[in-house]
Amino acid sequence: MPHESPSITVRPLAGAVGAEVAGVDLAGDPDDATVAALRRIWLDHGVIFFRDQDLPPARLLAFARRFGEVIEYPFLRGLDGFPEIIPVVKLPHERTNFGGVWHSDTAYLDIPPMATMLVAREVPPHGGDTLFACQTAAYEALSDGMKRLLAGLQAVNSSARADVSRTREDRMRDSGRSDAPKEYTATHPVVRTHPETGRRSLYINRAHTAAFAEMTEAESAPLLDYLFDHQVRPEFTCRFRWQPGSLAFWDNRRVLHNPVNDYHGFRRVMHRVTLAGTRPR
Ligand code: SIN
Repeated sequence: MPHESPSITVRPLAGAVGAEVAGVDLAGDPDDATVAALRRIWLDHGVIFFRDQDLPPARLLAFARRFGEVIEYPFLRGLDGFPEIIPVVKLPHERTNFGGVWHSDTAYLDIPPMATMLVAREVPPHGGDTLFACQTAAYEALSDGMKRLLAGLQAVNSSARADVSRTREDRMRDSGRSDAPKEYTATHPVVRTHPETGRRSLYINRAHTAAFAEMTEAESAPLLDYLFDHQVRPEFTCRFRWQPGSLAFWDNRRVLHNPVNDYHGFRRVMHRVTLAGTRPR
């Protein structure tokens, strides 16, 4: 793929989404041209991955700030001295994976985050991969009739859906924020238009979306269930195998993710930063 920085290489991981990017030292204060090139590659691929990066907390934040404003996660305390970085941890005796349901991060906020960066600190010897699904491809694969039906619909997103709130419980016990409300809800369009690319994507997800606005959950369920299955069809996805020092940078406006919970008995420790977004439209 052509771009201004000849040292950067881009290797797509799958047909619809995800690329591994090499030839950049993210901790080495990349110049503006390199950051602009990375942003274009990120917009093209939805989620990009880097290997072997030396990004302790202060450097991770410095790199993240080249792409936007870093914001805090509402439910968990961050690292000491770095409230914007939350540890995403599963311990050997635990059974649930934080965020282990297909979702876009904190879609229950009125202004959900544009992006997330996740860096791997400790990984299990096998398993613990993360799946990603492109919601532009999912939207574009729908029939014209379904696109017309969804065009005017809004959906209610909640932080309190049972399947996803369960995945937070272990961490709420040891690092929950005392000021966190019981529930956040936000109503967003079912199809959003990307503010940078102008392309449309599905913006619902099984973890957070409870119902279409002004409809009951029972009335909404048949169509939502169809869309929840459709939006993660294998051809819209890619899968990333972590190593310590790997970094994933995803666009919450057009990509869902789901960490695979297949490593009971092992520790997995990641550090996560989110970047401010705009109201979905
Ligand atoms: C998350 O939902 O942010 C966690 C993703 C992961 O652990 O791979």
